[in-house]
Amino acid sequence: MAIPEKFIQDLVDRSDIVDVVSGYVRLSKRSGANLFGLCPFHSEKTPSFSVSPDKQIYHCFGCGKGGGVIGFIMEIENLSYPEAVAFLARRAGMQMPEETDSAEGRKRSRMLALNKEAARWFYSQLSAPAGRGAVAYIQRRGISPAMVKNFGLGAAPDSWEGLRDAMREKGFTENELFDAGLVKRGKNGGFYDAFRNRLMFPVIDVRGNVIGFSGRILGDGEPKYLNSPETLTFNKSRNLFAMNLAKKSKSGYIILSEGNIDVVSLHQAGFDSAVASLGTSLTPEQARLISRYTSEVIIAYDSDGAGLKASQRAIGILEKLDIKVRVLRMEGAKDPDEFIKTKGPEAFRKLLEGSENQMDYRLRAIREKYDLNVTEQKSDYLREAVDLLSRLPDEVRRQVYAMDLARELGLPPDVIVNDVERRRKRVVNSAYREVQKQQARPEKLLQPTARELHYDDPASAAAEEGLIRLLYLEPALIGTPGLPPPEDFSAPGLGRIYGVLRKRIEAGQHISTDHLAGELSGDELGLLVSILQKPEQLSRSRQSISDYISKIEERKQLRDGGTDLMALREQLKKKKGYEG
Ligand code: GTP
Ligand code: MN
Repeated sequence: MAIPEKFIQDLVDRSDIVDVVSGYVRLSKRSGANLFGLCPFHSEKTPSFSVSPDKQIYHCFGCGKGGGVIGFIMEIENLSYPEAVAFLARRAGMQMPEETDSAEGRKRSRMLALNKEAARWFYSQLSAPAGRGAVAYIQRRGISPAMVKNFGLGAAPDSWEGLRDAMREKGFTENELFDAGLVKRGKNGGFYDAFRNRLMFPVIDVRGNVIGFSGRILGDGEPKYLNSPETLTFNKSRNLFAMNLAKKSKSGYIILSEGNIDVVSLHQAGFDSAVASLGTSLTPEQARLISRYTSEVIIAYDSDGAGLKASQRAIGILEKLDIKVRVLRMEGAKDPDEFIKTKGPEAFRKLLEGSENQMDYRLRAIREKYDLNVTEQKSDYLREAVDLLSRLPDEVRRQVYAMDLARELGLPPDVIVNDVERRRKRVVNSAYREVQKQQARPEKLLQPTARELHYDDPASAAAEEGLIRLLYLEPALIGTPGLPPPEDFSAPGLGRIYGVLRKRIEAGQHISTDHLAGELSGDELGLLVSILQKPEQLSRSRQSISDYISKIEERKQLRDGGTDLMALREQLKKKKGYEG
């Protein structure tokens, strides 16, 4: 690791985990030393995310994430280890030492530089003959020159090697272009441009990096859009198109639409907080990104059936993050772009002001399923509506909606209000029981949350965990004779953690979770933190460590013996000619 240990130590000393986490999570003190809050890494209604000021670590027993302050920033800001260090250094007002990059960090910054050059080149093609088709298309879609600049739109010419050759001249290799998804490999081993004859939309993250591209065909045809593949810099599910612009908006809300063209059109009409998910339906990660900038989202998806379905899914995801959601209903237009083109920006603004809140929207969605003139259906509607209202956390809002519902159905208000409250009790109780049940299942807690880290031999894994815990807490035990090699571990994930830990202790390096964050995956780091939180009696550590070692060896012999026995049986079978 190229960042000096001493620097990391100073940085961690100056970055109190409670301060840092508080920038993202509302923490509150309960009994005990730890602070609790709603986990920012998964959706939940009761806090299972804890921060320990003493140990300077965080841990969520819901999703298994955990680590030190650097690991937290890596996870929540979606940064690599060196980037997270730089992020915290800026926050702490510390000057980064020179030569900070890891191999992966270097690769990533090369890719970002390449993407930026590529975006420049696509943009420059708009004033070259090769970009005429794209320019004509831009005009046909009514996109203004100001928006072309604002979004950095560009043209991929109708050629096989335009970008490739231009980037090679800038000193990028074909392999670098390939890794960035800008060229493809032909049958004869040569490389050719991946984006051809398309209108190019650079995808820019909230830090201003060009992380990938989305290219629209000029006119009709398939596929309509071509996106960069997932690369070191491009992760579709964690980014939103135009979030880099929308985050600066003063509007107080984010407009979520489906298409890149819709976003450009909205910005052009003055709605500068429009974003689009990158060709997928909204993901929880994207919702979290949004929640960093606003607590209100207006959904302006296409008005077809697919758009309606996608809206309902998005509402569910956003609601879990306490984001207020409203849904636009665009009558007579298929999407925001068409609406603005045919009715003008003013009409869109009116629509925005009148957009329904999500409760009205969902009530209406339920109502539309039933014919309220049929008594039976009326009571089905009532039941479903009461259930929906009972899930509103706010008591006053529950009552207001219950009274509206009573009025609508011509029923006495108190009856409906009571119905909703009774249902509410049941909902709360069953949620509570669910949490209790989960916490009371030790066999489930014993397994790591990340599925790839599953323990096949829990008896051995418990001892492997113990060995890791002891070495972490008392590195001097590294001198214990007979420490097993990592390969003897039954769980590969634990073997990796143990290997890294041993190597660092033997090299006399620091071993806090912050130092380990650069060498372990996020899942492994989370697992390590959960291991550290299990109790260990340090007073008898020498006895414990040899118990753990014997257990690991014993289980290994059993496992190996098992395969030997199997092999023996196979041989016997063959000799006696049992089979075939
Ligand atoms: P217009 O039809 O010109 O208004 O384009 P649009 O940008 O509004 O796109 P549309 O509403 O058809 O699709 C919404 C989004 O889905 C697009 O912006 C793309 O991100 C994505 N998308 C659409 N078609 C494709 C496709 O063929 N492939 C991929 N990967 N994504 C697509
Ligand atoms: Mn569209």
